[in-house]
Order: sequence, then C-alpha cells, then structure tokens
Amino acid sequence: MASIMVERSGRVALLTLNRPKALNALNLAVMQETVAALRELDRDPSVGAIVITGSEKAFAAGADIKEMAPKTFADVFLEDWFAAWDQLAQLRTPTIAAVSGYALGGGCELAMLCDILIASDTAKFGQPEIKLGVIPGIGGSQRLTRAVGKAKAMDLCLTGRFMDVDEAERAGLVSRVVPVDQLRDVALEVAKTIADMSLPIAMMAKEAVNRSFETTLSEGVRFERRVFHSTFATDDQKEGMAAFIEKRKPLFSHR
Ligand code: CAA
Repeated sequence: MASIMVERSGRVALLTLNRPKALNALNLAVMQETVAALRELDRDPSVGAIVITGSEKAFAAGADIKEMAPKTFADVFLEDWFAAWDQLAQLRTPTIAAVSGYALGGGCELAMLCDILIASDTAKFGQPEIKLGVIPGIGGSQRLTRAVGKAKAMDLCLTGRFMDVDEAERAGLVSRVVPVDQLRDVALEVAKTIADMSLPIAMMAKEAVNRSFETTLSEGVRFERRVFHSTFATDDQKEGMAAFIEKRKPLFSHR
C-alpha cells in the first residue's frame, strides 16, 4: 500500500498521508513519496494549490520512532536524516495543511512547512521530541518560534506538552479552526479560492510573505515593491483590473 494518496479536482491537488495504523508516522517511504509528489505537483502549472492532510485521528504523530530508534550518530549524520523535507520550503505553489488530531514532532513541522494551516477542533500540536531524548529535526525549533514566539516555543519544546487548537489559534499557529467533519471541505474550498487566482501572482505573494522571515523590514519592503511593480508585466494584472472596472469576475490565464 502506498504511504500517500494524491487526488486532483480541477486546479486543486489533495495529498493524504496514508499510514493510519501508525498515526501517519513519517518514515523514509512517507518522506520520499511526499517530497517527490509535491515537487511534481509544484512543477505542474495546472495545479494552483495543494492541500496536505492526514486522517481524522492524526495529521501525523511525528517521525517514525521505530525506524529511528536503532540509528547511530554516524547513520543520521551521513544520511543527513530529514534533509529531504527542506525541499518543501522551496515549493512555489501555495500549500495548505488540513490538520485533524495529532500534529506532533515531524507532523507539526510538516504542517508548519505549509503556507496556511487550517485545523479541526480536535487538533493537537506539540514538539515532544525531548521526551525521546532528541530535539526537533525538521525545523520545529525555528518555525514554531517564528510562528508563536519564544515563550510558547520554549514551553512546548522543553516540556513536550501538547497544545490544543484554541491555544494554537490564540498563539497564531493556526489560521482557521473548523468542526472536524468540515475540515476537508473547508480546506479544499480555500485551496480552490487560491487556485482560481493567477498562479504567478499567488507565487509572488507567497514569496513576498516568506521573505519577511529571511530579511530586514526595509529590504523586505524593497523586495515587495519590486515584485509589485513586476505584477504589471502580467496579462493577469490587466485582466484583474479590467474585470473590477467592468463589474465581472476575472478569468485569469496564469500568464
Ligand atoms: N512513530 C512510530 N509509530 C508511532 C508513532 C511515531 N511517531 N506515533 C504513534 N505510533 C504508532 C504506535 O506505536 C502504535 O503502533 P502499535 O499499534 O503497533 O503499537 C500506533 O501508532 C497507535 O499509537 P498509540 O497506541 O500510541 O495511540 P494513542 O492514541 O494511545 O496515543 C499518541 C497517540 C499520543 C500520538 C502517541 O502515539 C504518541 O505519543 N506518539 C509519539 C509522538 C511523538 O513523540 N512524536 C515525535 C516523534 S520524533 C520526531 O518527530 C523528530 C522530528 O523532529 C522530526
């Protein structure tokens, strides 16, 4: 059985982690299949947004502990264990994590690698690696801190406790909370809204927001201004503004 499933509906792609018995623990196969599938979808201009989800009980309960347990320092160092996940930070297509149940360790980190995090009212987040004698390894100490600030990031990384969805929303980790039975539909609806926008413009908006994590305010604003100017080189800027003036819906050509 494949570790993931990929479905398409119009310009939206849905990737479902598919190891429900292991609470979608992220083993080597899941990592390789997920990264390969997402890179392929990212290269396809007929895909305008990607939703990543798990099961109702678990988005993903972390890296696969049974697979990691026997490894030595030399194993993980020489294999650069987890480095492949970094490729998800390079995706240009907007991504949405639809999180129900546990998003722990690598599961929380995978959700944070997405652009928008929509969670069900059952979602639980945490970086419990410390309880296993390790620390986060797919960016959790960095992305969680940027998302929720030092106070909560330290609390979660040092105690290993789980954070429920209300706390996660208050802390700014989650952009929307929805009832669990509506999670998939809401995430797909948000993805469709984004996928109906101009793909190059959506990519530029994503790149500009992400730049804020990498640079100073004045350099970030300068980058934004240059990209804003370049949107006027697209057909979709002409179409978007003409549609507003003509009081109709825009039909973007993604050019
Ligand atoms: N790796 C491997 N298997 C896992 C797993 C994981 N991260 N999480 C759950 N499973 C497996 C369990 O071993 C169990 O398998 P068996 O039926 O074969 O025993 C099955 O999934 C169901 O799990 P539980 O019986 O434990 O389910 P529960 O409802 O009692 O508890 C849970 C749920 C609280 C999420 C608990 O499973 C748990 O604490 N999981 C581990 C969470 C964790 O520590 N994650 C961090 C991993 S390290 C990491 O991710 C490093 C990094 O930064 C990348």
